[in-house]
Amino acid sequence: MEGDPLKLHDRVAIITGGAQGIGRAIGLLLAQNGADIVIADKNDQQAEETVQEISLLGRKSLAVKVDVSNFSEAEKLGKTVFDAFGRIDILVNNAGITRDGLFLRMKEEEWDEVIAINLKSVFNCSKGVIRYLGKQRGGKIISVASVVGQMGNIGQANYAASKAGIIGFTKTLAREFASRRIMVNAVAPGFIETDMTRTLPEKVREEFISNIPLGRMGTPEEIAEAVLFLASDASNYITGQVINVNGGLYM
Ligand code: NAI
Repeated sequence: MEGDPLKLHDRVAIITGGAQGIGRAIGLLLAQNGADIVIADKNDQQAEETVQEISLLGRKSLAVKVDVSNFSEAEKLGKTVFDAFGRIDILVNNAGITRDGLFLRMKEEEWDEVIAINLKSVFNCSKGVIRYLGKQRGGKIISVASVVGQMGNIGQANYAASKAGIIGFTKTLAREFASRRIMVNAVAPGFIETDMTRTLPEKVREEFISNIPLGRMGTPEEIAEAVLFLASDASNYITGQVINVNGGLYM
């Protein structure tokens, strides 16, 4: 990963679920490109480690312990970050979980938990930052959806619904805030090598990979590149879009 420290010079980015996996890769790449980074994660120990790594890149970084599914905790995040940094430019809604199971066996708690952490969190955190982005008359909200929200996937009714919900939310906010120059977009990853996919049985992984035209899983860094583009001025005429980073799995 190479960065251009002027690209996001002195901008402040909040990354939910940024302690590990895709969120961590986003934090490192945005920092390499000049941004100061807030890692908002419920796993504060892991978040601190990532913050240390980011600090070594010469940028300011802060870990904030937050459960993004909790409205008041997540909404407070905006104020906490504004008080610490004096501005907010970029929100990356990345925190997410899976609780897979076939529909007939899926429990109400599994539905509720996934909708709360993956989808309601996006409402909560966007509420927390929007007034600061509005006052600055500009900013970027980028949410991590999934190819599963576009195609569906057996055993993931809850997850697919949460990710499709993110796409509808993104397009609506893009329309509501375009006049204030707040650009709202999503990235829809395909099948990416992280803890979330590492636990899948080898046979299931092979089956998934056989359906990907590029013939391999993606890396967290490849998702981070798309987020960097949407966070930077290079994408200032882009809003309400979903960028698919999926090796051609869904076109
Ligand atoms: P991961 O499991 O490696 O990391 C998720 C992070 O979110 C962790 O640091 C965790 O502590 C944090 N988190 C979970 N619940 C939270 C909560 N309530 N409040 C605050 N933080 C919380 O997952 P990964 O793979 O990095 O996924 C990141 C995003 O990318 C998720 O939204 C996921 O749905 C999405 N995605 C992942 C794909 C993959 O193949 N790995 C494919 C498509 C989308």
